[in-house]
Amino acid sequence: GAPVEVDISGIKPGEKLTVEWRGKPVWIVRRTPEQLAALSKFDNELADPNSARTAYPTPAYAKNAARSIKPEFLVVVGICSHLGCSPSDKFQMGPQPSLPDDWHGGFLCPCHGSTFDLAGRVFKNKPAPDNLEVPPHMYLSDAKLLIG
Ligand code: FES
Repeated sequence: GAPVEVDISGIKPGEKLTVEWRGKPVWIVRRTPEQLAALSKFDNELADPNSARTAYPTPAYAKNAARSIKPEFLVVVGICSHLGCSPSDKFQMGPQPSLPDDWHGGFLCPCHGSTFDLAGRVFKNKPAPDNLEVPPHMYLSDAKLLIG
């Protein structure tokens, strides 16, 4: 499939844009400073906090705390690593159904309850074995992202 060019200039903090790449949904989430600050609080609850596993190899440029090139922007394939459902946005912090009381924002897979943080990292003891995939991507400018 051809690379996909995306204008990200209209995404507001706390919002997500979905685009299609190779028939898959790719999510671009612009994280708020609060959401970024919350990422580091979770590491000991995550199955693979440093994206060291290789089933979906994380590109070298995304092997960092925010799992991204620019900390503000998360770019991941929106498909659960368990059986391929599409997780739902759970960006709101705090207690809500099917989520831990100390929830700091992320995604919940409706099929079997796997949870992911706002870097797409899967929580421990969930059916999904791996973090959400970071697709190959680069920035052409502040406003333009190239996926693929
Ligand atoms: Fe997501 Fe099973 S497909 S938890």
